[in-house]
Amino acid sequence: MPSLLIRRPDDFHVHLRQGAACSEYARDAARAGWARVLVMPNTVPPVIDANGLKNYQRAIETAAPGLKPLMTFQILPSHTEEDIRQLKQAGAIAGKLYPDGSTTNAETGIRDLKAIYPVLQAMQQHGLVLCIHGEDPAAPLMEREARFLKHLKSLQTAFPDLKIVLEHVSSQKGVQAVLESSPRVAATITLHHLLFTSDDLAGGLLHPHLFCKPILKSPSDRKAIQEVVLSGNPKFFFGSDSAPHPREHKEGPQCKAGIYTMPVSLPLLAQFFEERGALNIMEAFVSQFGSNFYGLPLNSGTIKLEKEPFTVSKLYHNTVPLMAGERLPWRLASS
Ligand code: DOR
Ligand code: ZN
Repeated sequence: MPSLLIRRPDDFHVHLRQGAACSEYARDAARAGWARVLVMPNTVPPVIDANGLKNYQRAIETAAPGLKPLMTFQILPSHTEEDIRQLKQAGAIAGKLYPDGSTTNAETGIRDLKAIYPVLQAMQQHGLVLCIHGEDPAAPLMEREARFLKHLKSLQTAFPDLKIVLEHVSSQKGVQAVLESSPRVAATITLHHLLFTSDDLAGGLLHPHLFCKPILKSPSDRKAIQEVVLSGNPKFFFGSDSAPHPREHKEGPQCKAGIYTMPVSLPLLAQFFEERGALNIMEAFVSQFGSNFYGLPLNSGTIKLEKEPFTVSKLYHNTVPLMAGERLPWRLASS
């Protein structure tokens, strides 16, 4: 039976939500095989200060003892240098920039990038990474990422020592911008932008469980993402943007953006790499590049994936996962 043994992997972009649901999603992440997950701060209320961050971290660690949460906070124009120092001391490794209205719970996001320059200065000084939801919400849906890219350039010029991650890169132009940037700029790549296009979302019947921000794009955009992953470029590493919403928030007239990929991401990545004769690249993509970029130690221990069919549950805690009810060729071997 073909199998793949890799260093324990990290997912550098997840949403675990809050309250009781958070405990369930954190346990799903541990069961799915992840060692560390970079936890996004767009909870209700958002993670914006040291106390909130510590409480959130503790809640995740208590719910899922095997999982190490890597913590982030939402950047606000009102953050002072002292706030940033305290956030760092509390365990933050990154701050997240949400343009106003760009996605779930980003109604209080940033309108004017210049307004947060002092915060970015403090983050640069304290060695925190800037994670960006790189979309301009004022642009037409398909153009939002491309229209944001000019800001990526000006941020690099203004803060040459700041490490920047363009989260969930979704377009050929986004990939190109990261390739042309300094080594301090990287991108996360999601499972869904690697595998799907807007036709999967809405080319036939509408598939609400493929609706996300940034929206899935064209075959040529997906091709650019696939090629850069297969090239083994260390600037591009895995961040699933696994974003669970209760079923009734997805299957209704006001479908929320977000795809629950956590339970299937490692099996589907194995399938993606195997089908392209590139299983040897998977370990670096999920277990090394991100960790190296963030300056974290590599995980110890391994996980095994095996080519044994597994049927995805139809529902996890009232949340429909990607590929619900479908049979996948690869699964995580029980340890
Ligand atoms: O589709 C998305 N859902 N994209 C994001 O950036 C946020 C996420 C969420 O929190 O639901
Ligand atoms: Zn996200």
